[in-house]
Parts: sequence; C-alpha cells; structure tokens
Amino acid sequence: MEVANTIDSVRELVKAARSAGKKIGFVPTMGALHIGHISLIEAAVKKCDFVIVSIFVNPTQFGPGEDYKKYPRPLEDDLEICRNAGVDVVFAPAQEQMYPSENVTWVNVEKLTEPLCGRSRPGHFRGVTTVCAKLFNIVAPDVVFFGAKDAQQAIVIKRMVEDLNMPLEIVVCPTIRESDGLAVSSRNKYLTEEEKKDATLIYKSLEKCREMIEAGTTDIGTITAEMRTILSQSPAIEVEYVSIVDVEILQSIDHITGKVLAVVAVRIGQTRLIDNIVVDIEQQ
Ligand code: PAF
Repeated sequence: MEVANTIDSVRELVKAARSAGKKIGFVPTMGALHIGHISLIEAAVKKCDFVIVSIFVNPTQFGPGEDYKKYPRPLEDDLEICRNAGVDVVFAPAQEQMYPSENVTWVNVEKLTEPLCGRSRPGHFRGVTTVCAKLFNIVAPDVVFFGAKDAQQAIVIKRMVEDLNMPLEIVVCPTIRESDGLAVSSRNKYLTEEEKKDATLIYKSLEKCREMIEAGTTDIGTITAEMRTILSQSPAIEVEYVSIVDVEILQSIDHITGKVLAVVAVRIGQTRLIDNIVVDIEQQ
C-alpha cells in the first residue's frame, strides 16, 4: 500500500493504474476509521481493481464551535486498517495541499442542503461538496463509495455529480450498526458508557417508526410524536430534529406514501449524532 501526501503523487499513482486498465474505486473519509468505513472499503475492493482511501479532516465543513480541532486523527491505526482491508493507496494530504490559500471557489448544491442538517449546520454541505468536488478532480475515480448513515450527504453528493456531469458512479452502502442498533460513527468515540446507552434510543425511535408505518399508520405527526417519546426516555438527549421526508428531495411530507426517509439528529452531552432508515411500504 502506498501513502500519498501530495496531489501530484496520488495523480501519478492513479494514472499508472488507469493505464493498466484498472477500474478506480474511491472511499473519501475523515479518518478515525471504523467498521462502517471498512464496509465501504470492502465494497470498493469487490467492485474495483484499484482502491484509494482519502484521509482528510476537512476544515470547511465544520462550523465555528464544532469539533474540528478535537476530531480524532489516529493516522497510524487508520493506515493499518487500510493495509489490512486491501487498499492500494491512502491519500492523506495536509491542509496546505487541499487549501493552499484562502478558498474563494465553492460548490453549492441548493434546496437539498436547506432542511435537516443544513438548517442546524449552516455552510456544512457547502464544505462537503467543495472538498468532494476537489477530491474527485484529484483522484478521478470511476466509482465512489459513501455510507447511508449520512443520508443527506449521499443525496446531495449524488445530485452534485449529476448536475455537474462528473464522470463517476456513486454507490451508497448500508449503515453498519452495533449489536444494540447504534449506528457506527467516528463521533461515538466521544460518548461515555452512559451516553452510549442513551444513544441506543435513536435507533429504537427509528424502529418504532418502521413498526408504525408497517402497521398502517400514515400520519407523520403521530409517528414523530411516538419517536420523540422514545427519545425523551433519556434526559441527556436533546433532540435537534425528528423528521420523515421524501427520500429523493428531502422535503417534509404529511402522510406516508411509498418510500420515505425517517431521520433523527440529537445531541447527547457535547456529541451530535444522526441516524436514519428508509421505509418502503410498497415493498411490504
Ligand atoms: O463523510 C465524511 O467523512 C466527510 O463528510 C467526507 C465525505 C469525507 C468529506 O469530507
């Protein structure tokens, strides 16, 4: 496995792989790799011939007062995980490589970035789409892998790729969960044991949502009220949003029809956690 720290070096490595006729798979990450990332790498290894993982804690997607500074950066452990998972190249640029001067060019996906996390984290998606556009230009992958846990991110990036005619395929892989249902996330590292227990209420609320939809409840207000009741079982949980939205355009809906996305964002202590499920009544 090669570790490339510069844009020129990663481009050289990709160029050689491409001239050898290899299909390039790419997993963009901010490091602190866990089984969720490993599942993305495995999907990339299965579908592609040459796999690149980027590790870059992107400052432009963090708001003031967010966890940019304390975001975990266990680079050596991450490299070991990549090595064991069959990655060909890790691209781990310094901030000066990615943003050598003040950034004045931004990629902004409108509408889809306004609700949900876009409301509580202004500028977040602009940072994500800008860094992804830069990474896609640097790596020039054929296929890029994202996790379904960050549902809004995956939808926004898919739309950016479509609208800007980027010649690549986006694959969204299923959320990986602990045995108690908690979605695996790099930010789970911030949780105390007690907070981890509280956090299991997030998936419990989503399961309740699925159960109610499957039992025929169609009124969104009734379902989200039940979900909030479950979350309120822990006084440590501060709900940011509990919502059921259209799975394509993320707009609020009044009644369940077809395929919907149920989404939850909460704060537990200092930690912000998100999770979601897709429920498709037509598939029942
Ligand atoms: O999902 C993440 O880890 C980040 O938002 C991403 C896609 C690597 C961009 O910095």
